[in-house]
Amino acid sequence: MAATKIILTGDRPTGRLHVGHYVGSLRNRVVLQDSGEFEKIFIMIADAQALTDNADNPEKIRGNILEVALDYLAAGIDPAKSNILIQSQLSELTELTFYYMNLVTVARLQRNPTVKSEIQLRNFESSIPVGFLCYPISQAADITAFKATTVPVGEDQEPMLEQTREIVRKFNSVYGEVLVEPEILLPKVEVCLRLPGTDGKNKMSKSLGNCIYLADSEEDIKKKVMNMFTDPNHLMVSDPGQVEGNPVFTYLEAFSKQEHFDEYDPDHANLQEMEEHYKKGGLGDVKVKKFLLNVMYETLNPIRKRRQEFEKDIPYVCEVLKKGTEAARETAARTLSEVKAAMKINYFDDGALIRAYEDRA
Ligand code: TRP
Repeated sequence: MAATKIILTGDRPTGRLHVGHYVGSLRNRVVLQDSGEFEKIFIMIADAQALTDNADNPEKIRGNILEVALDYLAAGIDPAKSNILIQSQLSELTELTFYYMNLVTVARLQRNPTVKSEIQLRNFESSIPVGFLCYPISQAADITAFKATTVPVGEDQEPMLEQTREIVRKFNSVYGEVLVEPEILLPKVEVCLRLPGTDGKNKMSKSLGNCIYLADSEEDIKKKVMNMFTDPNHLMVSDPGQVEGNPVFTYLEAFSKQEHFDEYDPDHANLQEMEEHYKKGGLGDVKVKKFLLNVMYETLNPIRKRRQEFEKDIPYVCEVLKKGTEAARETAARTLSEVKAAMKINYFDDGALIRAYEDRA
């Protein structure tokens, strides 16, 4: 029998989810969920992790729990197949984190490339909060608590997975085989690894104001798409244009499907033909943007409509979170007790403390 495959993944609830999240991970999660290949799926709203660099602003995190849950459901996460859970509600995860801390050095955490760049970004250089420095350890707890084999996330999470695998190997070698080494699952389409923002310069991110959100109205999407950065040297329609580094084409690679060409662009058989035309000259930016706009509407309108339906029934959404969290607790509690047994800190189980004393005598 093939080994059981289990998914654990998650997001920090620091804002609504955007199309970078969608192509980077969310869309893939739905495919994986519906593939039937996975025995269990856990999707975590990582509020405790979000607090590691938002300690002074818990309201921001609290205010985004339901936003993220709505985005999940709208994107097609099905609570009958996937457990959506809230990280802070599982004290099992915090306990695991505390024991794993003994297996990791401060220097190793400081070398983690994602932590390093986040420290710079947040001006934490001179005084790093301990909790923030340790969040990769907490993320290892998130993943291992569920014995996840597969973690579908963006490329920026690779250092977290590496750190997790190290903790697993260390734990298993010191205390015995309990934990499972997870694998990262990246999106297959290259441009989806790091979708640029509408400014074309940076990765899509809320702080840079270059996002298209899953919940955006048609009007918002139109404004954002029509104002997108393109090839700055493509001044006249007849000029040859550049496709590389042109976010309009990057988005087309990430979002467009054959059926979009059939329906909205009879002039080009597919993306490749459209790109050739643009490179040769004679294809205007407005025309390409209008096509992209249709592609974005086709992608996002059904998501927004579903979101509006769920928004009408917030008690249902809360119930989904509660049930998902409780189901997750069962699994996490089982792993925690295996961990404690392996570490021999299960003193009162089966009279273990007494037995240890008798063995000594
Ligand atoms: N670090 C992830 C992010 O910034 C969120 C996260 C927390 C996560 N715990 C996780 C992702 C466990 C995958 C697995 O988006």
